[in-house]
Amino acid sequence: MIDVFKLGVIGDPVEHSLSPAIHHQFGQQTNIELAYKAYHVKKQELENFIQAFFKNGGHGLNVTLPHKLDCLDLADIVSKEVDEIGAANTLRINDQKKIVAETTDGQGFIYDCDQKNIQIENKNILIVGAGGAAQSIIPAIAQKKPNNLIITNRTKEKIIPILDKFAAHSLNSFEDFDKEIDLFINATSAGHLNSFAWDEGNDLLTSNTVFYDLSYGESARAFLKWSSQFSRKSFDGTGMLISQAAHSFNHWFKIMPNINKINII
Ligand code: ATR
Repeated sequence: MIDVFKLGVIGDPVEHSLSPAIHHQFGQQTNIELAYKAYHVKKQELENFIQAFFKNGGHGLNVTLPHKLDCLDLADIVSKEVDEIGAANTLRINDQKKIVAETTDGQGFIYDCDQKNIQIENKNILIVGAGGAAQSIIPAIAQKKPNNLIITNRTKEKIIPILDKFAAHSLNSFEDFDKEIDLFINATSAGHLNSFAWDEGNDLLTSNTVFYDLSYGESARAFLKWSSQFSRKSFDGTGMLISQAAHSFNHWFKIMPNINKINII
């Protein structure tokens, strides 16, 4: 009998998640039989759902908004990176049947940068945005030893606790920064409203600056248009989306699928 691995993504809402389509293709690629579903789970159902899922043979879960923080309370073990960030996007069950919380957003971002030849080591990296998306990539970027890792946000007060939280990673505020930006990362949710404008430090952006939006598709359109006034090197987060999924798959099966063979349209 062939093992069918029970997997899924939980969120509220979750209907538009591309994860089932991506993981289905990873399964085909690697000859692993999986049943990956999107589960609409409300906050008050979270604990029961996760416990029942793994008790009934579930192999792994992706976690999306709004559960990325709350799911930590239900995990038996959290990875070091999850502990630092305070959020997870992947749950797996270990050999001792313990629920382990992992995060793959940062690894997914770095992996996609490698694929696109976007350099981080020794470069000046600016993150715009101070929400969950921004924070999820900070430790992974810091590990690649940038020259400067800088953060800014529309609401400046929100930066202060983040600088504190990631002090070990040499994260600094954009205030008074005066060097050319090599990589400008849009971690804001502005694109969901089909707009993007940023006028702080634009004199530090050049035709060599690489622009990367953590959002993808329609949500990245305004950013890509805005950034085209500076540089032709602009990317949306489609590659990151697929790469973070590939890293989740790797946590569950110890196999890294080929991200270049995935079709999400
Ligand atoms: P996520 O989980 O996607 O990171 P979030 O935690 O709600 O979402 O954070 C959204 C981020 O986008 C915040 O940094 C927010 O800035 P504020 O802290 O000033 O609200 C940023 N953001 C949202 N709309 C924006 C806009 N139109 N221009 C600039 N930044 C914006």
